[in-house]
Amino acid sequence: MSAIDIEKVRSETPGIQVSTHLLASGSALMPQCVVNAVIEYTQLEAQFGGYEAQAQQADKLERVYSSVARHIGANTREIAVMENATVGWCHAFYALPLKRGARILTCEAEYAANYVAFLQRAKRDDLRIEVIPSDETGALDITALENTIDDDVGLIAITWIPTNGGLVNPAAEVGKIAQAHGVPYLLDACQAAGQMRIDVAELQCDFLSATGRKFLRGPRGTGFLYVKEKWLASLEPAMIDHFGAPWVARDRYELRDDARRFETWENSCALRAGLGAAIDYADQIGIDLIAERISMLAEQTRSLLAEDPQITLHDLGSTKCGIVSFSINDTDPEAVIQHMAAERFVIGASQPSSTRIDAERRSLPTVLRIAPHYYNTEYDITQAVARLRSYGFA
Ligand SMILES: Cc1ncc(COP(=O)(O)O)c(C=O)c1O
Repeated sequence: MSAIDIEKVRSETPGIQVSTHLLASGSALMPQCVVNAVIEYTQLEAQFGGYEAQAQQADKLERVYSSVARHIGANTREIAVMENATVGWCHAFYALPLKRGARILTCEAEYAANYVAFLQRAKRDDLRIEVIPSDETGALDITALENTIDDDVGLIAITWIPTNGGLVNPAAEVGKIAQAHGVPYLLDACQAAGQMRIDVAELQCDFLSATGRKFLRGPRGTGFLYVKEKWLASLEPAMIDHFGAPWVARDRYELRDDARRFETWENSCALRAGLGAAIDYADQIGIDLIAERISMLAEQTRSLLAEDPQITLHDLGSTKCGIVSFSINDTDPEAVIQHMAAERFVIGASQPSSTRIDAERRSLPTVLRIAPHYYNTEYDITQAVARLRSYGFA
């Protein structure tokens, strides 16, 4: 396994000329090949019309499913291409039959979009939401999860990596428990995709959702849903159209027999082409090399920030990912972000309302986020931390 050719990937990333972008957890810089895939596809639509372009590019568009499937160890039948992670997640969640009184088990780091959906179904279908406590490292407590399972548990739905920091929840261990007890398992892998290896067999999840624009470096408006084969025989989407469920007789539709039953007829083919290009690009580089480099840059960031007594790091977990969260005494995060932007450094923030359970438990303020990608350098990190210090809080 040879190292990533950093000069090459940087030369293939036009945004590097514009800013030092350190926010892959928000929306990363696309490589040129992704931009080209979107533009070239759009040009075809301009020249031939959308339907004709789609017919010409049918094989290429089909290959997007194989790229997603290969990337996560699934088969193409198990993949639905979506416009974002949330739509994918919701399709799985709202389709799942849950009896009245059923318990939904989740984690303290659960993402806001998922939690409000729990609240809605809890209200509508009389379900109970239960948050599994975290262990002493801040990760979901596996023993607590195992101990609470009974026949009323209808779903385990957790976020693997939260939006607000470096925590990596034990997603595969959760999968083992879910499998052992026959409980459906829905995994939000939005921040994991493109940052680390995803293998649905190892994770033992029934459903997995992810987005294109973050660590995968795809265009905005892309994502995917994985649905384990065993669900394809029975799972009825909460809403359908004549693509996912062709209208075969006046009084009857027939669900497609693959995960595309969750899709609708109209889509952005150009963005899909971009998503496919992004995944192929990541796989050419190698996801394990990507993970290793992100981890190295994130650790460098943490150790530099930790040197400053005015800075508090907020990352949880024993193994941390590429999202570094912190706050600076007596400073307004938005003003810090603006200060960095003026110096052409892109960092971000995460509001307590994005991960309310965790934020309330730890009394977190709005935290600042630095999330380097493999195209960043150690120099980027030292310069970013120096610019932060120049804000004048030290
Ligand atoms: C953990 C997590 N889950 C889900 C999402 C939602 O992804 P999308 O905006 O693509 O729907 C995000 C976005 O920030 C996220 O961080």
